[in-house]
Amino acid sequence: MFQRKRFGLVAVGLAVCCGAAAQVDTPEETAKREYDQVMQLQPNIENGRRLYLTCTVCHRPEGWGTIDGMYPQIAGQLRTVIIKQLADTRARNRDNPIMYPFSVPDILGGPQAVADIAAYVAKLPMTPHNGVGPGTDLELGARLYEDNCKKCHGANGEGDTKEHIPAVAGQHYLYQMREFDWIRIGKRRNSDPKMVKQIESFSPREQSAVLDYASRMRPPKEKLAKEGWTNPDFPGYVRPPSEVAPRF
Ligand code: HEC
Ligand code: HEC
Repeated sequence: MFQRKRFGLVAVGLAVCCGAAAQVDTPEETAKREYDQVMQLQPNIENGRRLYLTCTVCHRPEGWGTIDGMYPQIAGQLRTVIIKQLADTRARNRDNPIMYPFSVPDILGGPQAVADIAAYVAKLPMTPHNGVGPGTDLELGARLYEDNCKKCHGANGEGDTKEHIPAVAGQHYLYQMREFDWIRIGKRRNSDPKMVKQIESFSPREQSAVLDYASRMRPPKEKLAKEGWTNPDFPGYVRPPSEVAPRF
């Protein structure tokens, strides 16, 4: 009896002292709130260009990332996807420890900065030579894409602006392989539950086939950079030796 009473008192005490804490937003809610805020703002592309300097270190001045998949191509990604992924990363609704410190408001700025940088990045032309897979299983890949991915990622891998579903056409194969794994096991955290369900029974061969196919889908011509294009906004950038050779 005494035990139970004491427990009751502790419970009341906890509710009083920590009631406020119980109402703290989840990372998902925080990210969603910022996403909605950013979508109300008018982007300033010139400021986006200035802010993009920080991102060049990893995503490169062109926003093409790296073929080894370490850094994704972000150039030409849908604006709403860039906004959602930035908001998710800084609310810790997407696990991205490498980028996290560069995404926080103290470094990048508030919602206006997210609007500005997303507008700049979405307009960057995409690499005409992204990383692709071995090319040995493309028929299977096409079939799997049609049956399992098209309804969300679009017939041409163009994604969905309104639903902020990423464009996958032209994205590096090795990056997509990692994300597919992380989405499936929940490590990415912001995994779309319907996508997880759709891909849970994929074998390694099927995964590779469908992502090889997706990486080879071509973005529309007007979204691709001309051969040999480098970003004139960042003329002083010194490329790592491995990238001086014309890999892109
Ligand atoms: C220190 C390296 C680093 C910096 C600096 C960095 N990023 Fe990233 N970014 C990454 C990595 C790594 C990933 C992929 C994480 C993963 O594998 O899930 C990523 C992913 C992203 C994505 C998600 C892409 C997708 O298709 O899902 C966006 C958008 C993005 N970064 C934008 C930016 C912007 C804008 C900046 C500048 C403010 C920036 N990043 C700075 C390393 C970096
Ligand atoms: C029900 C809709 C849906 C289906 C079906 C679906 N996806 Fe997705 N996918 C998403 C959403 C939404 C995201 C982004 C999740 C987030 O971060 O908000 C995503 C993310 C991804 C990413 C990461 C992209 C990036 O830029 O980070 C890849 C790769 C991907 N999907 C591939 C596929 C493939 C291949 C299939 C089919 C086998 C598939 N998806 C089926 C909705 C879907």
